[in-house]
Amino acid sequence: MASTKKQIASTPQPITLAIDIGGSGIKAILLNQKGQPIGKRLRIATPQPSTPQAVLVGITELVKGLGNFDRVSVGFPGVIQQGWVKNAPNLDQTWPGINLAHELHGQLKKPIRIANDADVQGFGAIKGKGVELVITLGTGFGTALFINGSLVPNLEIGHHPFQKGKTYEDDLGAAALKKVGKKKWNQRLNKAIKTLDRVINYDHLFLGGGNGKKVTIELPPNVTIASNVAGLLGGIALWANGSQQPPSSADRPQTKSTNRPSASKRKQKSS
Ligand code: BGC
Repeated sequence: MASTKKQIASTPQPITLAIDIGGSGIKAILLNQKGQPIGKRLRIATPQPSTPQAVLVGITELVKGLGNFDRVSVGFPGVIQQGWVKNAPNLDQTWPGINLAHELHGQLKKPIRIANDADVQGFGAIKGKGVELVITLGTGFGTALFINGSLVPNLEIGHHPFQKGKTYEDDLGAAALKKVGKKKWNQRLNKAIKTLDRVINYDHLFLGGGNGKKVTIELPPNVTIASNVAGLLGGIALWANGSQQPPSSADRPQTKSTNRPSASKRKQKSS
C-alpha cells in the first residue's frame, strides 16, 4: 500500500478516478495521464436495493481505499445525457431523473464526467478505425457504436427485439445465462452476432463485460473478446481533447425539469 501511495505521489497530474457501476459490482481504479492503471483495482458488490443513495454511499466508501485523484470518469449502466440518468434497467427504479454528475460531485468534490458503461468500455477496447461495435455481456446487454473512433452515444440495441418476442438482453443477459446454461447461451450469442453483422455491417465487433469469459463459440476473424478491465480503462477517453462528452454538468445549473429533490436531500428527508 505504501508503495502504491508513493507511486501515486510521483505520478504527474491529472490522475483520473475511473468508476464502473454495474448491476452486480462497482469497480474503481486510478489512471495516470496516459490512461494506464496506477495501483490496485477495487470492487464492491452493488448494494441491494441499488438506490441512488446506496450506490453513492458505496462509491464514497470504495474510493477511500484508493489514493488522491483530480477528476472522475464514470461508466453507468443506463442512458446518460449531460450527467442526467434517463434510465437504468438493472438498477433500482428510482434512478431516472437523477443528476448523477451533480450528486457525485457533491460526494467527491472533483470534476465528474459520466457516460453509458458500454460506451466507456468501448473507448477502452476499440482501435479507432472504421465501424466498430462493442457488446458488453454482463447483468445487461450493453452496446456501443464507433465510427473512426467517434462515438454514437447511448445505442441501446439490448432492448430491441431479438427473437421470439424477446430482446437481446432478455436472451443474453446474466439472468438468461443462469437460466439456460452456457451451451444454449452461446448458441444464442452466435445468432446475435450474425444478426448484428447483417444490420450494422461493422468492420469489427468486440465482446466485453464479465461474461465475455463464458464465450465458447468459434468467433469470426473480425470478432474478438475485449478485456473486462476496458470498462475502467476507457474512462480516460471522457477527458481526452475533443471528447464528445460535455463539460462537467456537475458545475452547471440543474435545468432539466424534475421536481425530485437530490438523492442526498431525499435521504435526509426520509431519515
Ligand atoms: C442498459 C444499457 C447498459 C447495459 C449494460 C442495459 O440494460 O440499457 O444502457 O449499457 O444494460 O449495463
